Amino acid sequence: MSPKSFKLSALVVLAGWLPLISAAPASNGGDSTCRKTSVAILGAGMAGITAAQALHNASVSDFVIIEYQDRIGGRAWHGDFGKKADGSPYVVEYGCNWIQGLGNTGGPQNPVDLLAQKYHLANTYSDYDSILTYDETGYSNYTDLIDEYSDAYDTAAAKAGRFLVQNLQDETMRAGLSLAGWNPRHSDMKKQAAEWWNWDWEAGYSPEESSFVFGVAGDNLTFNQFGDANNFVIDQRGYSAIITGEASTFLAKDDPRLLLNTQVTNISYSDSGVTIYNHDGSCVSAAYAITTFSLGVLQRDTIRFSPELPQWKKRAIQNFAMGTYTKIFLQFNETFWPEDTQYFLYASPNTRGYYPVWQSLSTEGFMPGSNIIFATVVDDESYRIERQTDQETKAEAMEVLRQMFPNITIPEPIAFTYPRWTSEPWSYGSYSNWPPGTTLLAHQNLRANTGRLWFAGEATSAEYFGFLHGAWFEGREAGAQVAALLQGRPCVQYGDDRLCGERIHYETLTGTSPLSQYSILNGWAVSSLYDGGDD
Ligand SMILES: Cc1cc2nc3c(=O)[nH]c(=O)nc-3n(C[C@H](O)[C@H](O)[C@H](O)COP(=O)(O)OP(=O)(O)OC[C@H]3O[C@@H](n4cnc5c(N)ncnc54)[C@H](O)[C@@H]3O)c2cc1C
Ligand SMILES: *[C@@H]1O[C@H](CO)[C@@H](O)[C@H](O)[C@H]1NC(C)=O
Ligand SMILES: *[C@@H]1O[C@H](CO)[C@@H](O)[C@H](O)[C@H]1NC(C)=O
Ligand SMILES: *[C@@H]1O[C@H](CO)[C@@H](O)[C@H](O)[C@H]1NC(C)=O
Ligand SMILES: *[C@@H]1O[C@H](CO)[C@@H](O)[C@H](O)[C@H]1NC(C)=O
Ligand SMILES: *[C@@H]1O[C@H](CO)[C@@H](O)[C@H](O)[C@H]1NC(C)=O
Ligand SMILES: *[C@@H]1O[C@H](CO)[C@@H](O)[C@H](O)[C@H]1NC(C)=O
Repeated sequence: MSPKSFKLSALVVLAGWLPLISAAPASNGGDSTCRKTSVAILGAGMAGITAAQALHNASVSDFVIIEYQDRIGGRAWHGDFGKKADGSPYVVEYGCNWIQGLGNTGGPQNPVDLLAQKYHLANTYSDYDSILTYDETGYSNYTDLIDEYSDAYDTAAAKAGRFLVQNLQDETMRAGLSLAGWNPRHSDMKKQAAEWWNWDWEAGYSPEESSFVFGVAGDNLTFNQFGDANNFVIDQRGYSAIITGEASTFLAKDDPRLLLNTQVTNISYSDSGVTIYNHDGSCVSAAYAITTFSLGVLQRDTIRFSPELPQWKKRAIQNFAMGTYTKIFLQFNETFWPEDTQYFLYASPNTRGYYPVWQSLSTEGFMPGSNIIFATVVDDESYRIERQTDQETKAEAMEVLRQMFPNITIPEPIAFTYPRWTSEPWSYGSYSNWPPGTTLLAHQNLRANTGRLWFAGEATSAEYFGFLHGAWFEGREAGAQVAALLQGRPCVQYGDDRLCGERIHYETLTGTSPLSQYSILNGWAVSSLYDGGDD
């Protein structure tokens, strides 16, 4: 299909909504009392701030950013934890923590890495080879299983590429791995731990719950294209410093265009405008709106859309998955674990994913002398500990540490905390994942606009879902396209690609998407088949 015929089908579909849309203004009785603006940006995380910057760059200065919380940054969220020798607290990241995909020379650079350099964000290379492995009896070397997984993964990744090119039915990551020779028994807890370290830790979901084709493609696009390194952010201003820094390039201090502490409750949209109603009774009437709310927020149905979102949009929202990733922080009065090692992998004898990865912040290059270590759990284990008290979770974590270090008398922690992402009403989860059996066109429906309401954010990125840079790319594209529509410019140029007008959506989805549909029109700007690595 040529880009032209895509546009045609989008127009046809649009005409189909018109009766619905023209009914909408009647319900917007409060319009005249609402604050007027050209673009309402919903959310001040990475996507919202980048969308606003794209508008600013295109000389659109008439926008309003509406944000639930009292701060910019969204899921780039940090807090004070424990204390230093002088009594002041450390700053730890509850949300995003790594700059992911960097290190290739000469190739395209991850935009988040560029921002990290611009703002001198303190970060340290995460050395995944700096790992010791444990089970319930203490230290037990099973790093060979990590290597065994990696070999099978490489075989599987190449096959996922053939699936994509030949338009073959997606399968689970589990099937992809099993057929490539990695097929661990449920009772083999060391293999399960090695697998968790390699897969669940990044995806936030098990291989059973993840798409084979898009899981591998996403991995390729970040780690082959930009580089395979991950750097861990330790900046005491917080990771959000790059977002507040960019915001300050176009927003004044106390800029009246930024509404903090304002919770959106209702969104009324049509083909001629969007009205946003807030919990405090205020409203904003805009020519266009860009929502950057997380997939979790959209899935929970806490925002009332008028008219109701169309079926194709509702299906897209419920078909993609919002994962939860929980970091559990402990500070001690001493560092009793091997101080020169970054990672400690624990294989529970009973439960896969039970306090599996421990990460030392006391190590040189991180926060030496902090005596802070943190464990990570995801998915069902996250939901389980979110239902527990801090005391219950602390007792479990301590029991695991005692198993890992049986010959050490481990002191009680002097500080303990973990965020409960699934219950945060401004996020309802951590980041998105593609379940098995999805297609690119199914995902395009998540990105497509409904009338003048546009959608952006981490989850709308087909290529970088789950990552901070995904939110950046999606914010930029939505902002630039809305600016073009407002200014009556037909198209926006992205390198060799052009984007014109509204986004496409698909009323009917079939099981697969042919290679010809992997284009920027469906959110696919770069091929995942490319092996950009210089190492
Ligand atoms: C635990 C965790 C670990 C992660 N690790 C990494 C990592 O290491 N590397 C990486 O690249 N990425 C990581 N991510 C992902 C990264 O944080 C996100 O992709 C990115 O921050 C999402 O940005 P966004 O703008 O799309 O959404 P958000 O940051 O969620 O922004 C949306 C904004 O909308 C606001 N909002 C929501 N509801 C309403 C409402 N009703 N009214 C008004 N405002 C509302 C929210 O408060 C928020 O500020 C991690 C995320 C989490 C949670
Ligand atoms: C806006 O322009 C500045 C300056 O050229 C650039 O650094 C920034 O990346 C642009 N932002 C977006 C979202 O396009
Ligand atoms: C663990 O075992 C592997 C071989 O399987 C070996 O190469 C490695 O050096 C061992 N690690 C340690 C810390 O002894
Ligand atoms: C992932 O990258 C590898 C090269 O490293 C390639 O062989 C494979 O086809 C790619 N897979 C997908 C799904 O893009
Ligand atoms: C917003 O939606 C709620 C239901 O969730 C409804 O009761 C209320 O009237 C709506 N408010 C506006 C201003 O549309
Ligand atoms: C722990 O103690 C046991 C018995 O006391 C001993 O066999 C084992 O080697 C010790 N382990 C370590 C890591 O020191
Ligand atoms: C830490 O506290 C324990 C008691 O809980 C104590 O035995 C130990 O000496 C303390 N370590 C340091 C370095 O003060």
